[in-house]
Order: sequence, then C-alpha cells, then structure tokens
Amino acid sequence: MLKIENLHAEIDGKEILKGLSLEVNAGEIHAIMGPNGAGKSTLGYVLGGRPGYEVTAGSITFNGEDLLEKEPHERAAAGVFLGFQYPVEIPGVSNVQFLRESLNAQRTSRGEKPLSGAEFLKLARAQADALGLQQDMLKRPVNVGFSGGEKKRNEMVQMGIIDPAFAILDETDSGLDIDALRIVGDGINRIMRKPTKAVLLITHYQRLLDYVQPDRVHVLADGRITRSGGPELAHELERQGYAEVAA
Ligand SMILES: Nc1ncnc2c1ncn2[C@@H]1O[C@H](COP(=O)(O)OP(=O)(O)O)[C@@H](O)[C@H]1O
Ligand SMILES: [Mg+2]
Repeated sequence: MLKIENLHAEIDGKEILKGLSLEVNAGEIHAIMGPNGAGKSTLGYVLGGRPGYEVTAGSITFNGEDLLEKEPHERAAAGVFLGFQYPVEIPGVSNVQFLRESLNAQRTSRGEKPLSGAEFLKLARAQADALGLQQDMLKRPVNVGFSGGEKKRNEMVQMGIIDPAFAILDETDSGLDIDALRIVGDGINRIMRKPTKAVLLITHYQRLLDYVQPDRVHVLADGRITRSGGPELAHELERQGYAEVAA
C-alpha cells in the first residue's frame, strides 16, 4: 500500500530524513518508535505534504501512485489521513463545519456526492458517541479550549468521519489518561483495523501498543530506520532504551 524508498528530506536546508525506507501493506499496523528529534514527525509531515519539507531524494508510492507528485488535498482524497502531535485550533470555525467541509471536499474530488447537512450530522453524532465525545463539542470551534484528551478524541472522531485508507498518527497517545488511552486505542482498532487499510503509529510508549497491537515495529533514529521487528521489539525498547537496542 505504502512504499517509501531511500527518502531524503530537509527543512530550511537541514537534512532530517537521511535515506529512510519502509513498506506497509494493506491490513497492517506499523509502529514507529525513536528518540526525540529523530525525524518521526518530519516523516508524517512529508507524507501529508506539508509545505517547507523538501524531498531531495527517494520516492514514496501509495497504491502504486507517486504520492510526492500530489498536492496535500489530493493525498487526503486518495485516503491519506495525518493526525497531528499537536492538533491545531481553528477559532471561528465549528467542528461540524470543519469536518463537513473536509469530508465533502474529499468526496467531491473522488466523484462522490457530498453529504447533506442532515446526513452529515447523523454520521458525526454516531462517531462522537462511539468516542465518548460530548455532542456539544461538535458545535464548538475546532479544538479551541479543548483539553489534551478532548483534542485527541476529537481527532479520532475526525478519523471516523473521514474513514481514511491510511492513517499516520503522530503521538496520538501523548497526554492521555488511562481511560482516554483505551478509548483512542479502541477507536483506532474500530476505524482502521481492516484488511483494506493500514496505519503508521508514531509513539514513544508501549502502553498504546497494548491496545493497538502492531504487526511491525520500527526504530527511527537519526533520519532512518535502524531496526525493525515484531511487537516484541517495542517491549525490548521499553526495557533497554533506544541507545542500547538500535544505536
Ligand atoms: N521547522 C524546522 N526548522 C528547522 N529544524 C526543524 C524544524 N522542524 C523540525 N526540525 C528539526 O528536525 C529534527 C527532527 O524533528 P522531528 O521530526 O519533529 O523529530 P521527532 O518527531 O522524531 O521528535 C529535529 O532536530 C528538529 O529540531
Ligand atoms: Mg515528533
């Protein structure tokens, strides 16, 4: 589904990704772990097509197509969803407006009919209920005044509504208490654990992986994948640290 080969990327002329290769098949959940500053978020941004991140070498194909050729909105329409480490606040735009615009823009560019207000509300309510997010949160401006846990739940509601084929979730577990962690973990499993979908889960901790069992675990250090393994690798990292396991 996703194939990254020898990816080099820089920000402001500084090389951050230094020959990263990774392949993720449909039906798989991969965890990316690694020290601070290794380039994990950069990888997510490059996949999402964020401006300012320049790819200087290598390739990314998504379902056989060149992902790097596509604009960010085209990537989203193709099924790529990026969950942020720090969700953005959008004052003045309600959650419902934002989500409906996002979904309908994607549907339109795929040649599908946009959802009516009523159809959309039904979908949004069902997703909010499934994540235990209060209905009135849907009417509030996007992420404004949301607690850390509420932002992450809101992100899962977004993901449920958008229903992407491929999700990159960057430290979705940061700042969550145990109950919220379980809700987010269940959300990822419910929305994304399907034979046609795949997930790249960027995390520092084993605890999210207790809820969302990865098929593969990779260590990203200094801009490349330095080690890959099965779920046991995450336990090994937790016990021994990155320096010991994948220097
Ligand atoms: N806008 C930027 N300008 C310059 N350097 C940046 C910028 N954003 C990130 N970096 C640098 O890129 C490196 C990788 O950052 P990041 O991808 O956020 O790491 P991680 O998510 O693994 O902690 C860090 O050294 C960071 O300081
Ligand atoms: Mg990061």
